[in-house]
Amino acid sequence: MPLHLPALPRRRFLHQAIAGATACFAGGPLRAAARPRVDPDFWALLSDTHIAADPAQLARGINMADRLGRVVTEILAEGSRPAGALVDGDLSLNTGESGDYATLARLLSPLREAGVPLWLALGNHDHRERFWAGVPESRRTAGDLADRQAAMIPGGRANWFVLDSLDRTNVTPGVLGPAQLRWLEGALDAHAGKSALVMVHHNPNSSGNKNGLTETEALMAILRPRRHVKAHFFGHSHRWSIERDASGIHLVNLPATAYPFDQKQPAGWVAARLADTHLDLELRALDSTHTEHGKKHRLTWRT
Ligand SMILES: [Fe+2]
Repeated sequence: MPLHLPALPRRRFLHQAIAGATACFAGGPLRAAARPRVDPDFWALLSDTHIAADPAQLARGINMADRLGRVVTEILAEGSRPAGALVDGDLSLNTGESGDYATLARLLSPLREAGVPLWLALGNHDHRERFWAGVPESRRTAGDLADRQAAMIPGGRANWFVLDSLDRTNVTPGVLGPAQLRWLEGALDAHAGKSALVMVHHNPNSSGNKNGLTETEALMAILRPRRHVKAHFFGHSHRWSIERDASGIHLVNLPATAYPFDQKQPAGWVAARLADTHLDLELRALDSTHTEHGKKHRLTWRT
């Protein structure tokens, strides 16, 4: 299981909504407290949040907590609620301290309170045990992958397969390991009747890159022949790009929510909307003047 923060029970939401409505009534018109409709085909995609225990901490001149807070507010301002939010690793600033994760959980809690479940992948700046210490209510599943947090998240039109490429904390390259690769093969084959979207923190080791996923070729050798695999998502490089593998798999590099390494790159999140034959992606850059902000990309599925 990737780290899972389930939506909070509706009873708690209703309690808060009633309290809010009462406040509204006291100061003006009573507003309806109903939740927006959940769109089962809408997913919010984030990566590289790099949250520190101290929400005031800066890195590269950026306040990461402020940025994540803005992203959460933007997601909740959508006309419909996403079926879920996926955060593709590097949750912590640098070394995966339990206090980093406690702050991260607080920043993400408005999503859970609004009924949005969260799944969190791990990156090279994360630490599994300290995550669980910092967010004790998160769920994990013991399985045959030892401590690796990988799982399928079932969806209506596509299933997500979220992998765990954290090898050693604060050591850059990523490793899946043979057991996780075998698990992925079996899980993909067991769900071959529905489109598959595969997410991992580390970007491919290609074009001379040695700091990405060590087993890039082994992973792609699993994905390419399974025609129901339509897209592969990754973060790590803090870049926004969409490319296509020769086999027709879409390769989506999610931007950082925190800070780009290249100042020309955007920071923000991606709105993903599934259809039977394609996926529509839209970058929501935190700088709304960025040339990529609001651009729509249709990723048509290979057959
Ligand atoms: Fe990162």
